[in-house]
Amino acid sequence: MLDTLKIKADFPIFKNHSDLIYLDNAATSQKPQSVIDRITKFYSSENANVHRGVYPLSEQASEAYDLARKKVADFINAKSAKEIIFTKGTTDSLNLAAASYGLDNLKPDDEVLMSDFEHHSNFLPWKNVCEKTGATLKILNSDDDGSINQKEWQSKLNKKTKIVAIAHASNVLGTINDIKEISAIVHEVGAVLVVDGAQAIPHLQINVQDLDCDFYAFSGHKMLAPMGIGVLYVKEEILSKMFPYQLGGGMIESVSLDEVVYAEYPEKFEAGTPNVAGAIALVSAIDYLSKIGLSEIRSHEIELSEYLLDGLAKIKKVKLLGSAAPSQRTGLVSFSVEGIHAHDLSDYLAKQGLALRAGFHCAQPLHQSRNCGATLRASYYLYNSEKDLEVLLNNLEKAISYYG
Ligand SMILES: Cc1ncc(COP(=O)(O)O)c(C=O)c1O
Repeated sequence: MLDTLKIKADFPIFKNHSDLIYLDNAATSQKPQSVIDRITKFYSSENANVHRGVYPLSEQASEAYDLARKKVADFINAKSAKEIIFTKGTTDSLNLAAASYGLDNLKPDDEVLMSDFEHHSNFLPWKNVCEKTGATLKILNSDDDGSINQKEWQSKLNKKTKIVAIAHASNVLGTINDIKEISAIVHEVGAVLVVDGAQAIPHLQINVQDLDCDFYAFSGHKMLAPMGIGVLYVKEEILSKMFPYQLGGGMIESVSLDEVVYAEYPEKFEAGTPNVAGAIALVSAIDYLSKIGLSEIRSHEIELSEYLLDGLAKIKKVKLLGSAAPSQRTGLVSFSVEGIHAHDLSDYLAKQGLALRAGFHCAQPLHQSRNCGATLRASYYLYNSEKDLEVLLNNLEKAISYYG
């Protein structure tokens, strides 16, 4: 297992809140000092706008921003840095994909396919685009463990399907989907595959060429980087045919009253001043994760999942969502307790220093399809230890006897 005490020492939040047991990493991760320092350094000694000035400070900021794009491309093994669009986060990325690709390419007889476990950020943009274009939105129902069976794919995926939008990992079930396998069947019918990678990228080494997805969206803030920076990867052959849905400064070659020549992609899709500090600090987050090792982080989380799933199975009235197999999950477990509202439980746990999320986790259709109320979600990361989960399990038992 990872040396979590040593890792925790790199995260100032734990010095400032010595009793905090942070188990809400699926919502956002904490930030290491190196990421915080990088933001401070940018604003203290490097701040200038990019791709606009010809003075040294602006040129250096532009260089650092362009290098960040290259580093992100390398991190997810994109063919080219041109395929990386910086956004505000996953929500922004998916809205861009829906507006710039979906609106222009869907027609009334077309179909868009997505799962019942999508986050609202993946569900709503496609629902909206379907309503505007007259395309039909179809839902793939998942099994109890969060997987989508062959029969479901066969009955819903067909030649009319033009877009399949699916989470790499569900933020409620934790289930990791086999994107490589999915991309093969999606491409067989000529559709494009949009992957919501928000919950996968903090935990798995992503290789977009190997996955063969057409779009891959993620947020920096769930993988140790600051809030407000995200990425939309788009395969170049698709990107070259897309039109930007936001227009303004920074995305043109020339403008006259009669004619506009747009910049090359990806800048064409980044209208306005970008989050330069965020992009540069995202590289520091990638460096930190790479130093610890994503495969080490993954093994650590699987051990934590084993421990937590085992502990929860021993507590009466606990009902688990998703797979019982730790290796099929990212670092999260959602569950409910019969007869006790998740908000009451999270309130009780909060008083013991435990930070967990309770509610529908921006995935209300999933909770409706499973016919369950609000759930409690424990999500862990590289700085969490078995001890953190032991404290959770002990206090959960106390909370159940308090309310039960
Ligand atoms: C699966 C999934 N998709 C999308 C999002 C939205 O991410 P953001 O709020 O960073 O845009 C989240 C956030 O929790 C998520 O878990």
